[in-house]
Amino acid sequence: MNRPETRIEQLLSEMTLAEKVGQMTQIKMDRVGWPEGEERIRRGQVGSVLTIYGASKINRLQRIAVEGSRLGIPLLIGNDVIHGYRTIFPIPLAESCTWDPGLVQQAARIAAEEAAADGTDWTFAPMVDICRDPRWGRIAEGAGEDPFLGAAMARARVRGFEASDLTSGRNLVSCPKHYAAYGAAEAGKDYNTVDISERTLRDVYLPPFQAAFEEGAGTVMSAFNEIAGVPASANALILDTVLRHEWGFPGVVLTDWNAIGELISHGVAADLKEAAERSVLAGVDMDMVADAYHRHLADLVHEGRVPLSVVDDAVRRVLRLKLALGLFERPYTDESLASEVILRPAYREKALEVAQKSMVLLKNSERLLPLDPALKRIALIGPLADDHHHILGCWYRIGRDEDTESVLDGLRAVLPTTTELTHLRGCDLEGREEPDLEGAAQVARDAELAILVLGEGEHMSGEAHSRAYLGLPGHQQALLETVQATGVPLVVVLMSGRPLVIPWMAEHVPAILQAWHGGIRAGRAVADLVVGATDPSAKLTASWPRTEGQIPVYYAHKSTGRPEGGAGTVQFDRLHFSNYIDERNEPLFPFGYGLSYTSFAYRDLEIETPQVGLDGVLIVSATIANTGDRTGDEIVQLYVRDLVGSVTRPVKELKGFQRVSLDPGKDTRVRFEVPVQQLGFHDLKMAYVVEPGEFSVWVGPNAAQGLEGFFEVVE
Ligand code: GLC
Repeated sequence: MNRPETRIEQLLSEMTLAEKVGQMTQIKMDRVGWPEGEERIRRGQVGSVLTIYGASKINRLQRIAVEGSRLGIPLLIGNDVIHGYRTIFPIPLAESCTWDPGLVQQAARIAAEEAAADGTDWTFAPMVDICRDPRWGRIAEGAGEDPFLGAAMARARVRGFEASDLTSGRNLVSCPKHYAAYGAAEAGKDYNTVDISERTLRDVYLPPFQAAFEEGAGTVMSAFNEIAGVPASANALILDTVLRHEWGFPGVVLTDWNAIGELISHGVAADLKEAAERSVLAGVDMDMVADAYHRHLADLVHEGRVPLSVVDDAVRRVLRLKLALGLFERPYTDESLASEVILRPAYREKALEVAQKSMVLLKNSERLLPLDPALKRIALIGPLADDHHHILGCWYRIGRDEDTESVLDGLRAVLPTTTELTHLRGCDLEGREEPDLEGAAQVARDAELAILVLGEGEHMSGEAHSRAYLGLPGHQQALLETVQATGVPLVVVLMSGRPLVIPWMAEHVPAILQAWHGGIRAGRAVADLVVGATDPSAKLTASWPRTEGQIPVYYAHKSTGRPEGGAGTVQFDRLHFSNYIDERNEPLFPFGYGLSYTSFAYRDLEIETPQVGLDGVLIVSATIANTGDRTGDEIVQLYVRDLVGSVTRPVKELKGFQRVSLDPGKDTRVRFEVPVQQLGFHDLKMAYVVEPGEFSVWVGPNAAQGLEGFFEVVE
């Protein structure tokens, strides 16, 4: 047996049952000097703490564990480092719109650098929940609606977080969450019922988790929600069958906040003791703050309801993680490091680059953007025009307003001094104050162009912040229509944690930049984009609904028996299709959509493997040309459709993407190589298969457009 395993078995042999249960317990420790919490640590009854920040405070707690407890087992220090620690990056949904896993990995690594230097060694991230419902506030935290892109982002974030050469010499372990299918909450209402088929679970919601584990993620967080009747934190199918037996995941399973306690509210446990029994037998290793294991697990073992071997296996995984992180050798953090690492200038620059590449140009019909340098008078209006807080996004944690640049700051930095920039807030975010519509109209009339910065506050998305109406909050629509009515050329910069419902704006405003909540450098990024110092290249990773009534609206939908655009079925003397009588089926902007300041043409699609074997590689290429007058980046996408399957298949599925940079008039050949084994799904027996047959394939700029070809998978 190797040394770590020997050490684990040695420790295990010395541990009392109470100390073993302690390693399976995580407590909230958001204040130092909490006598009961420190006493529990001293007694070896705590394996991990969360919500405490700062090397000195953390070292104090570690000393109690390492020097004050009988066996000196160090604590795991967990925190939510979701899109940055102190250098706050754009929200993850925005980051995913870069379609740049390498860049996203760099951002995650910077978060790891800062968090590890300040004593945290476990981040409850990446959030890899697929979401097709922007009513759900936590769409902000993930990578959108698509499993393929979601898996690419999951890999990138795990690689970044779990980098092995951080400045501090310490390590950060990641924790893909929320396992599983939390993003499928009915009605987009947070914590709501998830009732999906096992096939949908396996084909849509599990792939990003599998990708994260393949990349080496060391832990996983079980979700609050039920899945078809069985809450995730007591669900043996996902926690044992899939995770341990199918995937061989060796790491630690931590629940989400009080998820064991919530089994009682779910109605699958009569009390906390029964809840503890169900979770531990299903495969949960560590209990986040419910104290269910702390209070009942020893009794459950003594009563024979939980085998001691189950406890021992869980404790082995926790101890193995602590050893792998080097916590036994280096439990304490060098307290001089954080000030040296946090907010390094290079990290601020990277935050700017990510923000610039995450903002999606949705409309530019009159080419108002980039701004004409000859403009002399610009009005900057809106509740988010000089915002220093909401741009931090919904999981900013220890991020600070003082670290941020507002759009006003950014424009002042990039506009010529000869340009007169007049700023007016015009209204508040929530509509609690009377809007200054006349003032806004006057400022707009006095200008040659108006930039309106509108949208959501960071508190309108994120956990427990689902919205039933996705329009502009408060009086912002009135402000928008007032400014638009003046006739001044109008640009809207939209900030939000989700796609918003903006039909009037889409019809009446010629230029719209979706800036999300763009992190500490959001303001400068907006300014650089609107003046053309850098060009927009981002593309949507979540379909943009025309109205809430369309939701869930996503590109990889099924055909149905009466697809719109198909032959339809004559019934009661008229043709019937799967559509609405009062709205179109298509989203306002499709998955993969985003404009740039130049234009691109796609031509000469070539299916280099018109027939390809089950173990073969599909090879497809096309030419992309820059047909505009500016250099630009284009994210070229490849989609396939399995035309006939043993079960219904999506009408399109993303299977590749590449970014190309082209000067005006230039073109390039883009080539995709897709292993055929990536074209599979779970069949009638719930086995992953690739079935021989005809496929369509597209190469294009988004999910709604592209050059189409065909190929055949053969035995
Ligand atoms: C929260 C979230 C989870 C987070 C955890 C600890 O409720 O659901 O994403 O990591 O609790 O803060």
